[in-house]
Amino acid sequence: MKTNAIVLEQYNRNIIRALLGLKEAETELPEPGPDEVLIKVHAAPCNPSDIAFMQGGYNIVKALPAVPGFEGSGTIVETGKNIPAGLAGKKVSFFIQDDRPGSWAGYVVAHRGSIILLDDRMDLDQAACFSVNPLTAFAMMEEARKTGTKGIIQNASGGQVAHFIRKIATGYGMEVIDVVRKEENAAALRNGGAKHVFTETDPEIKEKLKLLARETDALIAFDAVAGEQSGILFNALPENGRLIIYGGLSNKPVSGLNALDIIFKNKTVTGFNLPQWKSGLTEKEFEEIINRLQAKFIDGTLKTAIQGETGFKNIAKGLRNYITNMSAGKILIKPGL
Ligand SMILES: NC(=O)c1ccc[n+]([C@@H]2O[C@H](COP(=O)([O-])OP(=O)(O)OC[C@H]3O[C@@H](n4cnc5c(N)ncnc54)[C@H](OP(=O)(O)O)[C@@H]3O)[C@@H](O)[C@H]2O)c1
Repeated sequence: MKTNAIVLEQYNRNIIRALLGLKEAETELPEPGPDEVLIKVHAAPCNPSDIAFMQGGYNIVKALPAVPGFEGSGTIVETGKNIPAGLAGKKVSFFIQDDRPGSWAGYVVAHRGSIILLDDRMDLDQAACFSVNPLTAFAMMEEARKTGTKGIIQNASGGQVAHFIRKIATGYGMEVIDVVRKEENAAALRNGGAKHVFTETDPEIKEKLKLLARETDALIAFDAVAGEQSGILFNALPENGRLIIYGGLSNKPVSGLNALDIIFKNKTVTGFNLPQWKSGLTEKEFEEIINRLQAKFIDGTLKTAIQGETGFKNIAKGLRNYITNMSAGKILIKPGL
């Protein structure tokens, strides 16, 4: 079967050049296998993982020309022979974390393990960003809760994972210490009610974070940036603290960690990877988590900020708006716009 899609012809470290190289093209889709479904795509976001993918710096590398996009939403239109035919017509959110054609397309083929069947009340724009970020925030906060921490520190705080973390953490009565790189994002967070917000450029950030981490008993720091930011967050944590690295937005190696803290203060660094977390759950456990999270999207407690949408024709312009102001929210890519 053929579908219209966005095609990446060349990886490029320079993201603007990579974006300018994106083209709309007719591509070939494989027939759905026995455990797969064909989905008519409603929308797909551009995430930092897509940016890293187009730069050739992600852990998934596809043969070129390739269709980008790791998640999205849509409707099942065809089912493989091991899948109940009654699922045709169902709304889904999906997350394809492999090297097959991605979600920036009119149609996509996904394995049954990569789809989430949705409640009819779920908004399909929100569903396009449902499979990755809300689950990531939920899962990392479950890790945090196990430690008995009363607070958390995080960076890239204007981003969507960080917004979900803040919402979940404050719901548990935890203090949240936020770090952003731009003053306007700090102001926006404070206006939205965030209590402890710092900019990376604050000359006293190291001392301030250290003090506040002790005052709030923050044993966990979530790091989406890496580079020097990892050291700043890690060093701010008190004894028994743990830095959880889940992103590398700075494209820099982790640096600046105090070795004595690791040796004498029992402080640790771990990573977080959503597919690996998911693979440790039973189907029933995953379904229960999805139902809880979906209910919060349906009642509006949780929401992904969406700053705009783009069709295939003006994709480079649309995505440029996203990369120049990521904190404003996701840009949805919609076939047929
Ligand atoms: N490990 C996992 O399983 C997993 C799962 C989901 C997401 N992630 C990661 O989580 C991170 C956040 O994703 P998201 O979807 O929440 O992002 P997002 O909503 O697109 O926002 C990105 C945020 O990061 C900030 N940022 C970008 N580059 C930065 C840099 N070099 N230094 C400091 N801040 C920077 C942006 O601020 P500006 O407005 O200043 O640009 C923005 O607030 C990404 O690294 C993503 O890959 C990991």
